[in-house]
Amino acid sequence: MSSYLALVPAAGSGSRLGATRPKQYLQLNGKPLLWHTLSTLAAVPAISQVTVVLAADDLWFDRFDWPLAKLRVCRVGGASRAETVRNGLQALNCGERDWVLVHDAARCCLSQTAVERLITELTDNEVGGLLALPVADTVKRADAARCVSATVPRSDLWLAQTPQMFRAGKLVQALASMPLADITDEASALEALGLRPQLVEGDAQNFKVTYPRDIALAEAILAARKDADVSSWAGL
Ligand code: CTP
Ligand code: MG
Repeated sequence: MSSYLALVPAAGSGSRLGATRPKQYLQLNGKPLLWHTLSTLAAVPAISQVTVVLAADDLWFDRFDWPLAKLRVCRVGGASRAETVRNGLQALNCGERDWVLVHDAARCCLSQTAVERLITELTDNEVGGLLALPVADTVKRADAARCVSATVPRSDLWLAQTPQMFRAGKLVQALASMPLADITDEASALEALGLRPQLVEGDAQNFKVTYPRDIALAEAILAARKDADVSSWAGL
């Protein structure tokens, strides 16, 4: 039977956030942002291992406790996200047909429900796929003067999120067959092989913490989720 392995690239510097530490180590509701990401993945019963890929010179990870039995750490981060993922995959030690779920460390409001939906909907899919969100707003194309040059039909447009879940063998092959600079996400590398990843509906809460303004929203989402958990345990 195929295993489900999560691979979390966390070797970025968070330059757009501009904090004094990489954004994955900012404290959100008293825990590092990365903790929220890793603990959600580790809570999914089908996932047997969660591997976080850090920069080789990471000075932050060891300052915190990470009591997660499924967690593996490797320090082989690269200069780009794609390189970090490729290096991490090499360190995974998994079978060709095992499923790898690549998930951005910075998407700390991922819900367990969304991961389980991805796994369930892709059970019988040979290629794999990704969480994504149908575009809800009207889409405009801008010209050089930032005036609207066109309104773009949006009915078949989706915003790609993570996790992106593919068979390990195919993912390794796809990432090796393209220049790293051309890889925007794992799905794009599979697409370049002529494969068609499945889109599985995600949710807007699974956004990528990128700018300072995103912190308050992420904290509010995580706090509301915690409150809901407490209420359900209390039988309210
Ligand atoms: N990432 C990585 N290795 C890199 C660059 C990014 O593992 N060389 C990871 C980040 O840690 C993050 C995910 O890829 O979890 C998505 O990247 P992004 O949101 O762009 O994070 P940063 O690159 O850290 O942020 P910025 O682009 O603002 O510098
Ligand atoms: Mg980046």
